[in-house]
Amino acid sequence: MNRRGFLAAGLASVGAACGLPPAKPEAEPLRVSLSDVKRLIAQRVDPIAGRCRYVADLGTRQVVQPILFARRGEGLDALIENALPQPTTVHFHGLTLSQAQDGAGFDPIAPGERKRLRFEVQNRSGLYWFHPHPHGFTAEQVYAGLAGLLVVTDDEDQALDAALALAPGNRLALAIADVRVRNGAIRPYAPATIDCLHGWFGNKALVNGQPDAGWVVAPGWVRLQILNACNARGLLLGFQDRSAGKESLLPFQLLGTDGGLLAAPRELDRVFLHGGERVDVALDVSGRRALQTVSLEFDARHHTQSAAAGHRHPARGRYAPLAQESVCETPGPTETKDVPADGAELALFSLRIEGPSARAPALPARLSALSQAAPALDTPTRRIRLDFDECTGFLIDQTPYAIDETGFSVTRGAREVWEIKNSPISMPHPMHLHGFGFRVLRRQGTFGAARKLATEPGGRFPTDLGIKDTVLAWPNETLWLALDFTLPREGAFGGPQRYMFHCHNLEHEDGMMMRNITVL
Ligand code: C2O
Ligand code: CU
Ligand code: CU
Repeated sequence: MNRRGFLAAGLASVGAACGLPPAKPEAEPLRVSLSDVKRLIAQRVDPIAGRCRYVADLGTRQVVQPILFARRGEGLDALIENALPQPTTVHFHGLTLSQAQDGAGFDPIAPGERKRLRFEVQNRSGLYWFHPHPHGFTAEQVYAGLAGLLVVTDDEDQALDAALALAPGNRLALAIADVRVRNGAIRPYAPATIDCLHGWFGNKALVNGQPDAGWVVAPGWVRLQILNACNARGLLLGFQDRSAGKESLLPFQLLGTDGGLLAAPRELDRVFLHGGERVDVALDVSGRRALQTVSLEFDARHHTQSAAAGHRHPARGRYAPLAQESVCETPGPTETKDVPADGAELALFSLRIEGPSARAPALPARLSALSQAAPALDTPTRRIRLDFDECTGFLIDQTPYAIDETGFSVTRGAREVWEIKNSPISMPHPMHLHGFGFRVLRRQGTFGAARKLATEPGGRFPTDLGIKDTVLAWPNETLWLALDFTLPREGAFGGPQRYMFHCHNLEHEDGMMMRNITVL
């Protein structure tokens, strides 16, 4: 059996023991309407490697690792069942939800317990996602396979599909994760101390759970909504047309970012996406035969070396790892020899173009009604520092996360500018805020290769455009964000609401690079 077959078979066989339909790794994940989900079960399917999955129970049937779809305004009313041997939560990343529905780490569901989740999607069309958030276990559970996509659609989104004249199968929602594979099998999550500092990197990409993933598409426009679901790896996405020479990158159109469509498309030939960030892109594949999507080589700017360890959350002592391996306790570099460093080239997925030739229609000049209103000059500024400490690791404002603390409070309806400054001796940190989207105003202090990617006004990256919920801070940078703590609906979510603000490098998040904020 070849490497891929072995890996796929390994993933497939583990489902059979649990009385549920086994996962079929070669098949597309099934699309499920959000409102049809009655139960969402988080379960471990392989106690050796610790692999896990979500199963959506629709009443009439069960779907393994579904892709969820919703129209704006549609809702979820489902029981979340924790069939894992650890606490978990289900957090819908990017959605504006009340504290009670947010699945944050301070609201864990104990093993064997269930919790009702009920909400309505108020956000614009875009690619959102759901994943566990139990503090101290998030990195391990996401690496184990617990991450799913939620595609939200609305009128603007559908108008765009019509304008692109998308052939059936030419619109894809893709979650990219990296895993460690050795001898054809996925390694369990067992980071050494150094992995807890830099993040846990894999040597193989899984796209929607598949190794060596590929799709067949028709000539014309292809629309891809892509999530970086890696624990720690940044991705410099490029689409190589190898028949046109190895270095030839197909230009594409950036249509949207985390919180949906931009006002106008932006032509690029590469785009940098860190953990938790999403892009929506359109490629004109007419006249091409095959494309290989890769993460291009880049300078990852890992400047930090120290003995600091993460995952020291007290709850970790009470539950075993998913795969009977120690976590963050092995000093020194282990098994990293065959793992490409952050910044090394990594193959992601391929597209094969088949079918009668077709001409892609002109792209609409306007994609959405999104405005680029700058905040008023007297908007108060809040300063936030991303620090590195030799002993404690990465912190926000020198303070390790505490589950009951409030880092700071903001007033509902307030507008604020956040000035986030990353230490020059630090690492890139993809910073994420729950509950509220924001705009990136400008950046300063970007150096090295990253600076070449800062092609937008204000020293910004193309992924800074539009509505963001996760923004990358490179070492030495200062960023200014515009936040608006107005809720989309009057009277929504009565009482103070607590949300999380953290680094989406999941080893940093579990290693305390997180604060709670309260909206009063
Ligand atoms: Cu994607 Cu706080 O999470
Ligand atoms: Cu989130
Ligand atoms: Cu970080």
